[in-house]
Amino acid sequence: MKLDDVKTIGVVGGGVMGGGIGQVMAAHGGFNVVIRDISEEIVEQTKDAIFESKWGLKRAVEVGKMEFDRAREAMDLITVTTDQQALADCDFIIEAVPERLELKQQVFAELDTVVKPDAIFTSNTSGFVIAEIAQNVSEDRKTRFAGMHYSNPVPTMKMCEVIYTQQTSRETIDTVAGVGAQAGKAICMVMDAPGTYGFLLNRIFAAARREADKIVDAGIASREDVDKAMITGRNWPAGFYGNRGGIGKQW
Ligand SMILES: NC(=O)c1ccc[n+]([C@@H]2O[C@H](COP(=O)([O-])OP(=O)(O)OC[C@H]3O[C@@H](n4cnc5c(N)ncnc54)[C@H](O)[C@@H]3O)[C@@H](O)[C@H]2O)c1
Repeated sequence: MKLDDVKTIGVVGGGVMGGGIGQVMAAHGGFNVVIRDISEEIVEQTKDAIFESKWGLKRAVEVGKMEFDRAREAMDLITVTTDQQALADCDFIIEAVPERLELKQQVFAELDTVVKPDAIFTSNTSGFVIAEIAQNVSEDRKTRFAGMHYSNPVPTMKMCEVIYTQQTSRETIDTVAGVGAQAGKAICMVMDAPGTYGFLLNRIFAAARREADKIVDAGIASREDVDKAMITGRNWPAGFYGNRGGIGKQW
């Protein structure tokens, strides 16, 4: 599946991440988006959040980040559903169900039988090994399977890690990166690494957090001053310990 062939993206799980991913895929990528979750109540909340939430399209228009017509077109591109069969003709899947390995494996096993054979599958896992998430899909699908890790809130954070396994085909890697780029994201390529948890962002952040904890535990600096140093010295929007800096105040 080449980038030009990707017309419809299926997002599996319409929570915090799935809603944001669906929003940017429609509003910035111009893709048709089908978001599937497990109850009518949840999918209605997903659609409301895409429009009304703090990072939603309505506010994007209000604060001048997006033209009204573009926001309206984006809403028209998004369908929400509880029906797994509605994903059958999707060209590209982005999974964003809760971070439980067995759940993700089961979801992909089901998707493998439902979604057309040439569709690309991706997972927004925070850190599971992608080859392990893919273990229950066909060998053929494994060549079209990758990680696609976004940062929250997806409409404002540009990062997208693209994680390729030993089996991911070159064409799939290019298409996954192309979809992310078309949706306005900054693509960071990462090799799948069995025996680890987390890709690039979360591993480096966790290492920095461990060092920050050592500094605080040794009485070298307070939590407040550690946060202050990172926010004012590295322009981080937030520290480790709750000082949120500027985050949350702007779109
Ligand atoms: N929240 C973050 O900051 C963040 C950042 C990066 C990555 N992630 C990853 O994204 C994934 C989703 O996280 P989230 O914060 O959006 O979780 P969430 O709980 O907000 O949303 C998960 C959604 O998946 C739905 N769901 C559960 N089982 C399902 C199934 N079988 N089919 C379809 N939908 C199903 C739930 O009803 C829920 O709406 C996780 O793997 C998480 O680690 C989260």
